[in-house]
Amino acid sequence: MTILGIESSCDETAASLIKQTSTGLKVLSNVVFSQIKIHQAYGGVVPEVAARNHIKNILPVITSALKLQKKPDAIAVTAGPGLMSSLLIGVETAKTLSYTWQKPLIAVNHLAGHIYANWLDTIEYPKFPILSLIVSGGHTELVLIKNHLNFKTIGQTRDDAVGEAFDKVAKMLGLGYPGGPAVAQQAAQFMATDKTEDDIKFPRPMLNEPNLDFSFSGIKTSVLYQTKKDKTYRKRVPQYCDSFQQAVIDVLIHKTIKAAQQYKVKSIVLAGGVAANKQLRKQLGQAICNQIPQVKYHVPNMQYTTDNAAMIAAAGYFMASAKKFTTWQNIKADCNLKL
Ligand code: KG4
Ligand code: ZN
Repeated sequence: MTILGIESSCDETAASLIKQTSTGLKVLSNVVFSQIKIHQAYGGVVPEVAARNHIKNILPVITSALKLQKKPDAIAVTAGPGLMSSLLIGVETAKTLSYTWQKPLIAVNHLAGHIYANWLDTIEYPKFPILSLIVSGGHTELVLIKNHLNFKTIGQTRDDAVGEAFDKVAKMLGLGYPGGPAVAQQAAQFMATDKTEDDIKFPRPMLNEPNLDFSFSGIKTSVLYQTKKDKTYRKRVPQYCDSFQQAVIDVLIHKTIKAAQQYKVKSIVLAGGVAANKQLRKQLGQAICNQIPQVKYHVPNMQYTTDNAAMIAAAGYFMASAKKFTTWQNIKADCNLKL
């Protein structure tokens, strides 16, 4: 069975062809047209510009992902959450292809896609019950998954998403867009020094509250206030980035371990664009190994962390296995789609 995945929820136009094999889900192609360079000039994603570029790129991206294959066995497309004008381009294209090819259509939740990135190019699938920490530009959630496609959000951010906080802090520090990779790179630069100057401290909001929710806007505001007071901050940007990143990672790890213990899960899967952060990947792994060694830890391969269509095809595969199809007449883009 081959599945064509289509993703256009934000500023990446993506298509991918995956195949179910005896050794798991194999990615045959994974094409991502990133609009980052276009939006950099505005310091963030401009929805109308994103939609216009999706229109221009979606067919070349799909053609390239299909390679010489004429038709896939099914089409999986992101139906939400995301920017409405961006989602519509992927959904309308998928609808048209489903009608012309007479192939089944699957409406995928973008966050389910991020989670299922952990099932790509691996033979070692996560075991249920699973806890997923989703960290992206728009979402920060702890999701309990008792079996396939059965998602329950048990914790979430009350304000900014983690990726959003990285992007805003990067802007404050003059590091441009997108901020996550830039902040991580500056932090790595500081870590490579002897770290003798370790005098910048940021809060760990909600760390000891008896729930699994998060709050990141306080850390971001603290960066703003401290840099305003510090006349030398321009020379200490790497140190600010390291302290900010560590504060965020500490909170994420603490709540993830707490949730894993509370719900007695067998696996933890990291998901979303911020899963590309090397320190988060490493430190979460170390914490699991030290504190709950019986729990298996999964992270997606780097190319499946930020938005891509292979992850949408992977979620689509499990939805197809559960016969969760839609039709070209019924599918609707929903910018607030819940898991
Ligand atoms: O999942 P994603 O590609 O898009 C959404 O669904 O939102 O996530 C994008 C987010 C951006 O906020 C970006 O700054 C962040 O992921 N990001 C990172 C890193 N790479 C991307 N954040 C921290 N460290 C990184 N290495
Ligand atoms: Zn995403």
